[in-house]
Amino acid sequence: MNQIVSEPVEQITHQISGLNISETLSYLANKFPGKVIFSTSFSVEDQVIAHQILSNQIPISIFTLDTGRLFAETYSVWSSTNVKYGTKIKTYYPDRSLLEDYLDSKGPNAFYESIENRKQCCHIRKVEPLKRALDGNAVWVTGLRAEHSPDRKNLQAIEWDEGNKILKYNPLLWWSTTEVRNYIDAHDVPYNVLHDRGFVSIGCAPCTRAIKPGEDFRAGRWWWEDAEKKECGLHVHQS
Ligand code: ADX
Ligand code: SF4
Repeated sequence: MNQIVSEPVEQITHQISGLNISETLSYLANKFPGKVIFSTSFSVEDQVIAHQILSNQIPISIFTLDTGRLFAETYSVWSSTNVKYGTKIKTYYPDRSLLEDYLDSKGPNAFYESIENRKQCCHIRKVEPLKRALDGNAVWVTGLRAEHSPDRKNLQAIEWDEGNKILKYNPLLWWSTTEVRNYIDAHDVPYNVLHDRGFVSIGCAPCTRAIKPGEDFRAGRWWWEDAEKKECGLHVHQS
């Protein structure tokens, strides 16, 4: 079970008001020692947060969910991040027997055939490993931004995630795409080269494509599905 935060979200929000991102991360790491974790998909947003944590040596552990279907370019930025900051980002991999049963019964690309198959694949490759990663922790730091989707505009920088029973901190919630890119350039942070080829939101290779000018931020994710169904279950917001 995750540690239940006794203090109300409003109180923590009040305590961090006026702090910048690295100060807030340090405050949370100090308040919940060993129980603050950051999930990275190596997106530009996540790389900004990783830079803040690693270059300031803030005691927050960083993990990624390796779905087994990521782009080669994502593994490259993961590797160059480990090298640049002298770290080893923790990996959570899908449960072997769940994955074998799914692949044996449905085949490798069943996510294109139905939403049910797609959600089952996301559950096995992302959601179940996420639950293991969050277990026993008090604060989950993410790279969610309001610009990503209409639903994400309803988020708060600090909020209670009832589904996972954990406090969530979304430090870049109100950053623009330009601010994120400028930060990456100014601090020479490693980034996924797919961002230079029209990819904005990057997930698994078979479920992500580049977008065309004028398309929505998440148009390249699960592009064959209806827009309102395009969540994989990592972030479930009760508004
Ligand atoms: S998703 O729900 O559509 O897959 P998105 O790609 O927008 O999420 O990423 C939002 C945040 O979710 C990231 O900033 C990161 O914190 C977390 N996240 C997404 N994918 C992963 C992953 N494979 N490993 C770890 N964290 C992830
Ligand atoms: Fe499976 Fe695609 Fe979901 Fe990745 S994004 S876990 S490949 S359905």
